[in-house]
Amino acid sequence: MQRRAFLSALTTGAALSTLPLSLRTLAQSSWKAEFHEALAQSPWLRGYLGVDGNSNFDATATVTGRLPVGLQGSFYRNGPARHEVGPFRYHHWFDGDGLLQRWHLSEDGVTHRARMIQTRKLRAEQDAGRALYPGFGSLPPDPAPVTGPDLVNTGNISVLHHNERLFALWEAGSPWEMDPDTLETRGIHRFSQKTHGVPFSAHPRVEPDGTLWNFGYLSASNLLVLWHIDAKGNVIKNGTIGCDPITMPHDFLVTDRHLILMLPPFNFERGHNQTFLDSHHWQPDQATRLLIVDKNDFGKHQWAELPAQWVFHFGNAWEDKAGVIRFDGARSPDPSVMTGALRDVMRGVVSDPGISHHYRYSIDTRSGRTSEERLLAPSIHTEFPAIDPRVTTTHYSRLVVLSRDETRPAPHYELNQVRLIDLDRESSMTWSYPEHQLPEEHIFVPAPGSKPEAEGWVVGTAYDWQADCSLLNVFDVNGLADGPIATATLPYALPLGLHGKFVA
Ligand SMILES: [Fe+2]
Repeated sequence: MQRRAFLSALTTGAALSTLPLSLRTLAQSSWKAEFHEALAQSPWLRGYLGVDGNSNFDATATVTGRLPVGLQGSFYRNGPARHEVGPFRYHHWFDGDGLLQRWHLSEDGVTHRARMIQTRKLRAEQDAGRALYPGFGSLPPDPAPVTGPDLVNTGNISVLHHNERLFALWEAGSPWEMDPDTLETRGIHRFSQKTHGVPFSAHPRVEPDGTLWNFGYLSASNLLVLWHIDAKGNVIKNGTIGCDPITMPHDFLVTDRHLILMLPPFNFERGHNQTFLDSHHWQPDQATRLLIVDKNDFGKHQWAELPAQWVFHFGNAWEDKAGVIRFDGARSPDPSVMTGALRDVMRGVVSDPGISHHYRYSIDTRSGRTSEERLLAPSIHTEFPAIDPRVTTTHYSRLVVLSRDETRPAPHYELNQVRLIDLDRESSMTWSYPEHQLPEEHIFVPAPGSKPEAEGWVVGTAYDWQADCSLLNVFDVNGLADGPIATATLPYALPLGLHGKFVA
């Protein structure tokens, strides 16, 4: 067996606990060595290199093109960023500690700021000088006991701006409140005394009037949690629904009458000395369950089914008068992007993440019948769907996604196009990023005072691995295929991140 294969074999959870500490440390640090070796061959991997836990970023960006007069405000982006602690490199992209960014757009140009989210975990590990806690898909040597989810809450997935407050969100714990200007971490946010520590997912949905809905899951108790919060941040109601087997839903949907959760057959079964990710098992012979919950009464709910599939993200949902719910999502045949590619990349191994096609779905709430239909050509891979936030829960026709065309292969397997889909006309506009730039999620920012979906901008960031810098692009939503109308470029590079929000 080659040395690399031997060390890789050692890093499997089951084998680790039986090894002496010195060998365990060697096995864990091999991921770091492998990654840094791979960087020389594949410079675009620098997007996954990560930053130091003490990093602060502040700069004025260089703007080319012309920023639209109506586009003023802050674009916040969150994502995993500290990928290495001492000799240990995380074994999953989702485990990096969160870095929150603010791109501020004004008449004077674009400024940028980024701060590490000062979580309990980050502070404890910075003090200790080593990785202390198990993560989503990583198990450091000699892990410290985890006494509650917020102890390991990295706040590294998404951003919520609600009731004039800014939050960095993780999936399985509480929101971290952040200062909207300085990005200083204010601390764990409690919506109420009673709900302290109740999981609050990274994908809440906010209606145009400020009403907020969210879910969470308690794997060990086979329970889904539901949240209903008013525009002022008061908890209107909470509820739990039994879910056995339980899985890990990442996003959900809201119509004017229902909440909809998709529950893929990636079932939780706690194993000994395993990561949270490895405690889930893909069971393709089982259906994907749909849970449809009455917004007015969480006790009223029904179930429906779709074939086995994995969906990270949905665009939107709406419901007609007859009770038929329609929604869309980026559908993968299984969760292998999460169990394979996003793990492999952390040791510099580039593997095909598989394809996720954009699908349109329906659920007839009277009969329980469901349908699904692919929207784009089979060669088009999509992710990160985004809508004009003003059409949340209502009929919609425009969807921004990142995509990749399998007929135009790139040396990396990253998404490399931004695409605006017109659902009514079944057509799309696309702009392809140059090969040396890796785009992150792009969002729809409406023009002030415009009709919903009619005018606005597509705003998103990218990492340029040739110039080793990060940039923000602005496209006119009606001329996306013509390319960016303005680009703001930073004098430094940031790690590839996850979700963002624009606050006008
Ligand atoms: Fe997400």
